[in-house]
Amino acid sequence: MLPTEILKNEHQLILMVLDAAEREAALIAEGGDVDVARLEQFVDFIREFADRCHHAKEEDLLFVRMGEKGFPVDGGPVGVMLYEHEVGRSYVAALADSIAAAAGGDSRARARVTESLAAYAALLRQHISKEDTILYPMADRVFSDADQQALATGFERVERERFSEDFHERYRALARELASR
Ligand SMILES: [Fe+2]
Ligand SMILES: [Fe+2]
Repeated sequence: MLPTEILKNEHQLILMVLDAAEREAALIAEGGDVDVARLEQFVDFIREFADRCHHAKEEDLLFVRMGEKGFPVDGGPVGVMLYEHEVGRSYVAALADSIAAAAGGDSRARARVTESLAAYAALLRQHISKEDTILYPMADRVFSDADQQALATGFERVERERFSEDFHERYRALARELASR
């Protein structure tokens, strides 16, 4: 499997959670309960799976190799992707910081919860679409077989060194749980 195919598969899991996040935001906006445990699960999935695992492979390996192949990393499509990762982190920070106050009845915090959840979902959805249809194909066109092999080895090393063996299984289960409601 090409490294970009591994990333595309991870996108499918992230998209499942984005759908659920949008539903959750709509339910809360319509006056539903602020379910602290469930909102913390969204934060956990986004921070651990989407950011620490998926975005790390992009930022530390894929984008770096694209840079070596001549793509500018402080501008152009890669720069936009890096910027969107940062914007996503700020939405998740706003979400995480507002959950307790929202659950305590603070209406502004409640609005911040729904807005940051919905904004994160909208941002990541279009980000994923651009990566799947533009950025990854662009990378695969310029990567040699040796580049692909080195990237695949790098992905394996990241998984082995930074994540426990059951990491992917745990976050697949969490995504399914979040999507089931
Ligand atoms: Fe990305
Ligand atoms: Fe991605």
